[in-house]
This record gives sequence, C-alpha cells and structure tokens, in this order.
Amino acid sequence: MNLTNAEILSNQPISERYCHMEIAITGWSVADVKPGQFFHIRTIDAYSPLLRRPFSIYRINEEDNTLEFLYLVKGVGTKVMAKRMPKEHLDIFGPLGNTFTFREGSSGILLIARGVGIATLSALAFDAGKKGIPCYAILSARTKDDILIEKELTAAGIKTFPVTDEDGSSDPLLVRKLAEEIIKMQQIDSVYTCGSRRLAILTKDIGEQHQLFAEIALEENMGCAMGACYACVCDIQDEDEIRSIRVCQEGPVLPLKKVIL
Ligand code: FES
Repeated sequence: MNLTNAEILSNQPISERYCHMEIAITGWSVADVKPGQFFHIRTIDAYSPLLRRPFSIYRINEEDNTLEFLYLVKGVGTKVMAKRMPKEHLDIFGPLGNTFTFREGSSGILLIARGVGIATLSALAFDAGKKGIPCYAILSARTKDDILIEKELTAAGIKTFPVTDEDGSSDPLLVRKLAEEIIKMQQIDSVYTCGSRRLAILTKDIGEQHQLFAEIALEENMGCAMGACYACVCDIQDEDEIRSIRVCQEGPVLPLKKVIL
C-alpha cells in the first residue's frame, strides 16, 4: 500500500447526487489495484474535515496509470471533495482491503448493485469483461438519473438491467424474478452484491437456492482503515460461531453466506 499525492485530472458531477473523479498516479503501478479494494482519502488539504474517507475503486486504467472513483455527494467530506479542481493534489492511502474472487472457469456472473454500490461492482464487471467472463448487472437506484455509468458498462460488453424506485421496477419481488430469469437463461454460477441490505438479503437467498458462489462488498464507516480503531466492526457467521471482524482488515469483500444481514 502507498501514501501518494495523486494529481486530479478531472472531477465533475455525473448526476444530481454523484460525482466522478479521475486521478493520475506516479511512482507505482495501478496494476497492483484490484476490484473491491478501496483507498482512504483526505478529501481536502486542510484540518477540517480531518479524517480520511474510504472510497472504493470504480475503474483501474493500467495504460494511463490512472484510477477513477464514483462517489455520492452526501456528507461534509464528499461535499468538499466535489469542489476539488483538476491539477490539485489528492492525498490517497491504499490500495486497502481484499478483492473479489472469480470462480475457476466461471460460465457467467450476475451483479446486483444499488446506488454507489454500482461503482464498486463496476470494477469487477470491467475485469470480467477483460477475462471474457459473461457478465450481467442489475442496477438499482432511486431514479433513472441515479443509474450510474450504464453506457460505460454496456460499451464494455456487460448486459445491464436498470431498475428504479420511481417506476416501481426496483421492488424486491420484481428484482428477484428478473434475477431468477437471468440465472436460468445465462448459465450464471456466481453472484455479487453491493449497496443495499435489502438486495443483499435477496442475493443471499437466491445464491443459496441456486447454489451459486456469492460475495458481498460491505460498506462500513471507517476511522483508521488500518485495524486500530474498531470503527468498522461487523459480525459474521463463521462455521458454528458468530465472531466480530474489522471490515478494513478482513473485507470489504466477504462470502455472502457468512455475513449476518
Ligand atoms: Fe479502524 Fe477498521 S477502520 S479498525
């Protein structure tokens, strides 16, 4: 992992609530960054807000040695981050955490993502595209405007299925029906989820029913991101015992069957 002053190449809104940032890395190769991992970022070069914020990777560009993030502008940290300008430097620490795994010889994967979870799973989708693994993505959001980067995913050969609250298509029963159809028609052997507890419960259930390999990327509040502060603790079911883990150390990607939802 590296502590780096990256250069901001671009930082702009892509919808009413979400921004996209691209940064250039010098001194080390982004080939070391894997889907699912995150960076702990100082959103502004000042004392307030002081704490770093975790940002999962949206896109890894090995040719240009750049990284891209998609983030929801919500709290103090992301509001100041949204005002950062090209050519400014961004203090980033990472990559941190573990990565998604592909099942050996996978015949197809299904992603079920909501909101900013779409960004986290997109890195996995692009990786699947590069490896020639057929990838299908159910993208759930409040509004059509919040369905992020559908065009980019489609251009990368990923078949997308947008569902929204505003037209009622994100209803869990309808999402379940859609997921079941995709699994049946497309030889899906693995399923991944991020961004919604409700969708995680649904994904876990579908995964167990169809005996699919299933992983989740957890989104937890973090303090140190180095295992020292215990701000990111969650419980998992490990064999017969329930134990607490630090998501920054053992996650953020975990087997879905282990996570207590
Ligand atoms: Fe401090 Fe995980 S964020 S232990």
